Amino acid sequence: MKVYKVKDYQELSKKSASIVAEQIKLKSNSILGLATGSTPEGMYKELIELYEKNIVDFSDVTTFNLDEYYGLYPEDSQSYNYYMRKHLLNHINIKEENINIPNGMAEDIEKSCEEYENKIKELGGIDLQLLGIGRNGHIGFNEPSDSFETYTRLVELDIDTINANSRFFASLEEVPTKAISMGIQTIMNAKKILLIASGESKAKTIYDTIKGPITPSVPASILQLHKDVTIIVDEEAGKLL
Ligand code: F6R
Repeated sequence: MKVYKVKDYQELSKKSASIVAEQIKLKSNSILGLATGSTPEGMYKELIELYEKNIVDFSDVTTFNLDEYYGLYPEDSQSYNYYMRKHLLNHINIKEENINIPNGMAEDIEKSCEEYENKIKELGGIDLQLLGIGRNGHIGFNEPSDSFETYTRLVELDIDTINANSRFFASLEEVPTKAISMGIQTIMNAKKILLIASGESKAKTIYDTIKGPITPSVPASILQLHKDVTIIVDEEAGKLL
């Protein structure tokens, strides 16, 4: 595990964007695993800038998002599909057919999760998986549980996650209580993983992830067993390290 502590959110965004850009330069047809949430917004901004300066080219890149709310249409402004287009995909030269985001409205959820998982495998697996981390240690929407043995599936969100995500909705009642998420095994199968965390509210879970025991009650702690993980934290998120 490589852990970088940087000064602030801006540095975190720049450093993580440069790692993603490097991956695309090394392999133009990279398969990227993407995350949503507040943390990667700055990184996506940096990546758009690198694209506009012709430093990075997304024309052969394929993306798979970690998760999507269950019951929201892709056009819904609260969906992760909408988020991805707004914060990155609409501003770069990625091909529409290379964008993969779980379908929160699929009629047969189980089948659509299986197809998602199979498509990742058929394309050769994720080269670089980007992750944020929940205050409760979740990665994707893999909430604290008693098992690491999970693949893409429908999940129930923790009350802590619902509370944390309510800041994006008009009221707590509007926050979806279920989501489709890649599983821990899907994430662990990625060749490289980049996790970013910012702010004091993440300090305890970052400490537990890096220094604590490997336990499904802190889902991100499994990353200690992955052979190529980079974690970038700002001073506040890294203050207990
Ligand atoms: C988002 C995701 C989540 C977030 C996590 C942190 O696609 O999978 O695990 O990364 O909830 O969210 P923020 O960055 O908003 O603190």
